[in-house]
Amino acid sequence: MGSSFRTVMAIVLVMAAASIFGTVNGEKKCNEGWECKGSIYCCNMTISKFFDSDMFEILFPMRNSPVAQAVDFWDYQSFITASALFQPLGFGTTGGKSMQMKEVAAFLAHVGSQTSCGNAASLRGPYAWGLCYNHEMSPSQSYCDPNYIYPCAPGAQYYGRGALPVYWNYNYGIIGKGLKIDLLEHPEYLEQNATIAFQSAMWRWMNSVKKNQPSAHEVFVGHWKPTKTDNLSNRVPGFGTTMNILEADQACGPNGNMDTMNSIINFYLNYLDFMGIGQDQAGPYEDLTCAQQVPFNPSSSSS
Ligand SMILES: *[C@@H]1O[C@H](CO)[C@@H](O)[C@H](O)[C@H]1NC(C)=O
Ligand SMILES: *[C@@H]1O[C@H](CO)[C@@H](O)[C@H](O)[C@H]1NC(C)=O
Ligand SMILES: *[C@@H]1O[C@H](CO)[C@@H](O)[C@H](O)[C@H]1NC(C)=O
Repeated sequence: MGSSFRTVMAIVLVMAAASIFGTVNGEKKCNEGWECKGSIYCCNMTISKFFDSDMFEILFPMRNSPVAQAVDFWDYQSFITASALFQPLGFGTTGGKSMQMKEVAAFLAHVGSQTSCGNAASLRGPYAWGLCYNHEMSPSQSYCDPNYIYPCAPGAQYYGRGALPVYWNYNYGIIGKGLKIDLLEHPEYLEQNATIAFQSAMWRWMNSVKKNQPSAHEVFVGHWKPTKTDNLSNRVPGFGTTMNILEADQACGPNGNMDTMNSIINFYLNYLDFMGIGQDQAGPYEDLTCAQQVPFNPSSSSS
């Protein structure tokens, strides 16, 4: 079976790591148990209310099959525990039930496609195999870039690990800073602790990689206003632009791999069905694709 852990773009995440605990001014704040505390977003339904452990099983039914690499690693509780850091910031809690469910489906579609070991011939089809892996198989290098902000720890390897695989020391460094976990010293946490693996992926989804660029979350929920350059680059709010942010020219634009792009879109559409939302709720194809978009951050290497 083909690994979907791709050798990944060398995007430098240069933004100063934003605190993951923002404050919200003026508006009513709510608490909803341990899952969502102290924010206007917590006044909306929390994720566990519309996405329960049965639904997690429906999306990731084969993750513990004997041929999966990460048997017994990924579980629902780790997902919800991880989300508790980000629900107060709007992850899965923005814009009402339909948008909330679609955001979880979109986030998990990226996760599913990047950690899948399925293909068209696989038992139960290609979309049943998300969360098969938790780290890159047979890394070809240690992904250490001598970088003055986030220097490599002696002997550490920064190959792809996690739910949205993290590659390179500087990406481990910035995500670790955002989560206040020393991932530069301990990159292995991402393949040892599913909560940290999901938190790292959610941090990536919720944060922009460069000043003046949106996060995947913002473009998905409609909190992002495209600039003139974005308009000229065919970057529109919606799922397609989340691929631009997370996959860049691995999936998007004239150099993007159409199979990769279509696979991620198909994970999303199938997850919408699995979650009972229905893929007709995905919106027009122009918002789903990124084939005509100019990548925000073209990669310097690809496989
Ligand atoms: C909460 O949900 C409502 C719709 O039910 C939506 O109008 C509102 O914008 C949401 N709140 C936030 C902070 O997104
Ligand atoms: C996994 O990481 C979380 C978050 O840092 C931590 O609370 C938990 O104790 C860790 N689990 C294990 C088994 O180390
Ligand atoms: C970009 O396009 C949108 C949608 O057509 C439009 O509303 C917006 O004004 C445009 N932005 C700029 C800065 O031209």
